Amino acid sequence: MKIIKLPAVLYKSLKKSRSAGKTIGFVPTMGALHAGHLSLIRQARKENSIVVVSIFVNPAQFGPKEDLKKYPRPLNKDLALCRKERVDFVFSPRPEEMYGEGFSTYVNVERLSETLCGKSRPGHFRGVATIVAKLLNIGQPDIIYLGQKDAQQAIIVKRMARDLNIPVKVKIMPTVRQRDGLALSSRNAYLDKKEKKDALVLSAALNLAKLFIKSGARDASRIINRMKRVVNKKKSSRIDYIAIVDTASLKPVRKISGECLIALAVRIGRTRLIDNIIVRA
Ligand code: PAF
Repeated sequence: MKIIKLPAVLYKSLKKSRSAGKTIGFVPTMGALHAGHLSLIRQARKENSIVVVSIFVNPAQFGPKEDLKKYPRPLNKDLALCRKERVDFVFSPRPEEMYGEGFSTYVNVERLSETLCGKSRPGHFRGVATIVAKLLNIGQPDIIYLGQKDAQQAIIVKRMARDLNIPVKVKIMPTVRQRDGLALSSRNAYLDKKEKKDALVLSAALNLAKLFIKSGARDASRIINRMKRVVNKKKSSRIDYIAIVDTASLKPVRKISGECLIALAVRIGRTRLIDNIIVRA
């Protein structure tokens, strides 16, 4: 496994692989790897001759009051995990390499970036789209792997690739959960023991919504109200949003029909968590 710090070096190495007819799978991460990331890496390993994992805590996607400084950075542990998964290249640049002096070009996926998480995290998806576009330009992979847990991010990256004619397949892999239902996230590390229990209200609310829809409920606002009740049962929880939206446009749906995304963001104590499911009525 090669650890690469410079964009030009990764570009050159992958150019060689491509000319030798090898396919490239790319897993972008901010490190603090967990089983969710590993499932993406394993899928990439199955489907490509070369697997690249990027580990980069991207400053452009953090707001001024967010957790950029305290975001976990267990690089050695991450590298050991990548080695075990037979990753070929780990790309872990320094921020100065990705955002050099005078950096002034950003990618903004309009509308899709302004709703759901975009409302309380202005600029977040501009930062995500920009870094992913940069990584795709540097790596030029055949397939990029993202997790369903960050559903809005995945939809935005798909849109960006389509709009900007970036020749990459965007593959979305299912959310990996603990046995108790908590969706895996690097930010779960911020939760104390009690908060970890309280955080189960996210998946509990989603499961309830799924059950309601299965038993014939179609009115989105009624389902959302029932979900709110579940989440509000915990004192430590504060709802940012609970929404039922169209999976392509992310616009709210009133009556559930066909496929829709049920998504929520909830603060448990000081930690903001997100989760979602896709349901078909
Ligand atoms: O999902 C993440 O970890 C990040 O948003 C990503 C896609 C690696 C971009 O920094």
